[in-house]
Formats: sequence, C-alpha cells, structure tokens
Amino acid sequence: MDKRNLPIAFFDSGVGGISVLREAVALMPRENYLYFGDSANAPYGTKSVEEIRSLTMAHAERFRKQGIKALVIACNTATSAAIASLRAVYTDMPVIGIEPALKPAALMSDHPTVIVMATPLTVSAAKFHELLGHYSDRADVIPLGCPGLMEFVERGCLDTPQVDSYLRELLEPYLRDREVDAIVLGCTHYPFVRPLIRKIAGDSVRIFDGGQGTARELQRRLAAEDLLTDRKEHGSVVFDESIPEKTELCRMLLQGI
Ligand code: DGL
Repeated sequence: MDKRNLPIAFFDSGVGGISVLREAVALMPRENYLYFGDSANAPYGTKSVEEIRSLTMAHAERFRKQGIKALVIACNTATSAAIASLRAVYTDMPVIGIEPALKPAALMSDHPTVIVMATPLTVSAAKFHELLGHYSDRADVIPLGCPGLMEFVERGCLDTPQVDSYLRELLEPYLRDREVDAIVLGCTHYPFVRPLIRKIAGDSVRIFDGGQGTARELQRRLAAEDLLTDRKEHGSVVFDESIPEKTELCRMLLQGI
C-alpha cells in the first residue's frame, strides 16, 4: 500500500484528544484517522512520569504494528512524559506532540497575566518549566493544576452544575484578585468545557488551546515528508477506545455536542 494513504494515529489518555483530532479532520478531511483513547487507564495527569511513559510507549508500538504514517500524541501530559522517548524510537515517521499554547497568550499584549490550566503532571514537569522560562519575562504566568477536571469530560459532563461549581471554585479566586488577560487550556480535555470557562471568566479574557496549532504542525510535517494522502474523497475516523462503551461519546465529541 502507498504509505501516503496509511492512517494517522491519534493518542490520548481518554476522549480529550478529540479536541485536536477535530481540528485535523477540518484541515485535512481526506486523511484516514485512527483514534485511541486510553480511558481505562485515565487519568494520566496524576500518575508518575515512568507509568505514563510505559503506557504511551506500549500504545505507540501497537499502533505501529497496525500500520500508520504518523503519530499524534494529543495529550499534553503524555507529551511531557514520553515525547523524547517516542522520537528516539520512531525515527522514520513524524511524531507530533502538544504543549500548552503559552506562546500566543504571552505575546498577545504587553506583559499579560495568563493562567495555564493543565494536569498536575503537566504543570510540575520539566518540559513545562522550560516553556515557562521562555516567557516568564514577557508575561505573568499562573500555572494551575486541575486535578479532577478531565474526569467530568470523560463522563460527558460538559455543562452540569457540578462542573460549573468545580470551575468557579478553581478560577474565581484568581479572577477576583487581579486582572487576568488570558487562560490557556493546557490539557486536551479542557476545550470541551470552554463555553463554561468563557461564562465564568467573561468576554474580556482570551482563551487559547493548542489544537489548531498541532493540526497545522501535523499538516506541515506530512507535506514536508510527502506523506499527504492523494485520496480524492473524504477519509474516515476509526475509534478504538480502551473502554468500548465510550465510543459513542467519542463520536458525539467529534461532531460537537
Ligand atoms: N488529555 C490529557 C492532557 O492533555 C490529560 C488528561 C489526564 O489523563 O489526566 O494532558
């Protein structure tokens, strides 16, 4: 089979990576996609780096055996823990990761105040501290670990009173104390509660996520390696959830519930 027509694999600890997948499908609708959400082992954000790395490496190997042309780690947490190991092993295909979209937020105005919402692992990882180092003189950055938030999305609770009060308790102390200019959604599950975050933060706060940038980077890498499909018709999306009952939620999130 022509390598260009193999599927692109997307991986996340659960259903969150669909916020990245939907951007890729919008940008490259003729590609075939294979989505694996490891909901059975979620959350990753409260596990150790070693555990996340070994889960991610095992899933990547399984994908690889299925025949793929590129791998997208649509999970900020797994990217921090495993991207270097993955790139060391899979040198012959694009391996794309995602990190909190701090750059556009930090550069949006003169020294903005930016909250970065992410999993506990992402905000404590060396990779995030390195990213912070690049922008700490350009912005006032508040890293905010959000243990428990991805679980609401995993249950399909995107607009319930429970997730509303969780988010208010988390964000309001910061929003009350100072002028916040931007919020970065540094976990791929969080764009699914973006409308609620918008309601709590108000219209003056800009909200960033890395989904579109990651999809564009994937397109650039495929083009650079002559791996874009030559298919003329729409491609397909195949969901492979480690909890098969979640497949319906995956479909709904992709279509935009
Ligand atoms: N979706 C994942 C991320 O982008 C993490 C969720 C989790 O498993 O804790 O970081």
